[in-house]
Amino acid sequence: MNKQKYNFDEIIDRKLSNSIKWWESKDILPMWIADMDFKVADEILDAMKKTIDHGIIGYDDKPDSFYESIINWVKDRYNWEIKKEWLVFTPGVVPGLGISIKSFSKEGDKVIIQPPVYPPFYRVIENNNRRVVENSLIYKDNKYIMNIDDLEKNIDKDVKMAMICSPHNPVGRVWKKEELEVFGNLCLKNNIIMISDEIHCDLTFSDYKHIPLASISDEFANNTITFMAPSKTFNIAGLFASVAIIPNEKLRKLYNDTIENMEITHTNGFSIIGFEAAYKYGKNWLSQAIRYIEDNADFAVDYINKNIPEIKTYKPEGTFLMWLDFKPLGKTSEEINELLINKGKVQLNNGATFGTAGEGFFRLNIGCPREVLKEGLDRIKKAIQ
Ligand SMILES: Cc1ncc(COP(=O)(O)O)c(C=O)c1O
Repeated sequence: MNKQKYNFDEIIDRKLSNSIKWWESKDILPMWIADMDFKVADEILDAMKKTIDHGIIGYDDKPDSFYESIINWVKDRYNWEIKKEWLVFTPGVVPGLGISIKSFSKEGDKVIIQPPVYPPFYRVIENNNRRVVENSLIYKDNKYIMNIDDLEKNIDKDVKMAMICSPHNPVGRVWKKEELEVFGNLCLKNNIIMISDEIHCDLTFSDYKHIPLASISDEFANNTITFMAPSKTFNIAGLFASVAIIPNEKLRKLYNDTIENMEITHTNGFSIIGFEAAYKYGKNWLSQAIRYIEDNADFAVDYINKNIPEIKTYKPEGTFLMWLDFKPLGKTSEEINELLINKGKVQLNNGATFGTAGEGFFRLNIGCPREVLKEGLDRIKKAIQ
């Protein structure tokens, strides 16, 4: 097995690229949008370079080896046996959420989400004229948990779908089997289709293990659309390549019909090549990346506790995102954002965009070299002190 050692301390000037995160930032250090500043694994880049060297960029299809790479990855990592016919290539998880909303609900239907949560969860529901039902998480003793009593109260005949973020962006929870079971059983009992966004599933820290919601039982599998992707895992979000895993034939047909009606069945060849190479050859890079990110999380928690005691945080259980509580400052989200940008010259995601439950919080991207993280934390300190 390849034991190449990767250097996650390397600083690459992303201002030289079209990176959304970096290119307009001028003197502001960007620690917001969720891609990482680490160089992609050589194994993935080499596979893509081969296509370049071949010299023709025509219409490509997905070979059997593409599907096998997903099946093997999911079996190896999660001990979940999935079948080729369950898999539907999807050009990005967010598009997949939108396709799901269109496929499994109609205008006016209600969809449950658990804020604070990744903002597109709101958008795909509201922009398609469905109604958001907020089942906000409970924040207690530095930990978020699901509010099952509230979930039960919110369910009525109009609720047709529930979207779960697992692991959860932005709060960094890796849901336990028991938590998923309670959530899933309530959905099953009430005929609510579950959409499980598991894009962050491969990035869990040493004490935590991701459990695919649909792997819990055949009943769960039959009622769940799972999204996975190598995009966050291997820092290849720009390839816009993900997979919907849909064991239920009827639901899969509805999903495929929407994809076909929208004429988005194909993608570019680089996505296919990069996706497959990541799942086939990326394991060594990933284990080193996870270790580095976990060390970053420990570093950031320690730095904040020692140097910025005015704000509160905790170590996430996975993801490369941290959730910082600025509420003790007694300022509005806009006031804090203003301080971060204009005084500290650092940009985080404003928690208010993750729903009202995110007011007063900011999301920090720690998927970067330690030196950059330290600089970002110094700037946060400067902003508020
Ligand atoms: C929970 C979650 N889902 C989806 C996405 C984006 O997925 P994609 O780029 O494949 O649309 C992100 C990106 O941050 C995310 O955090």
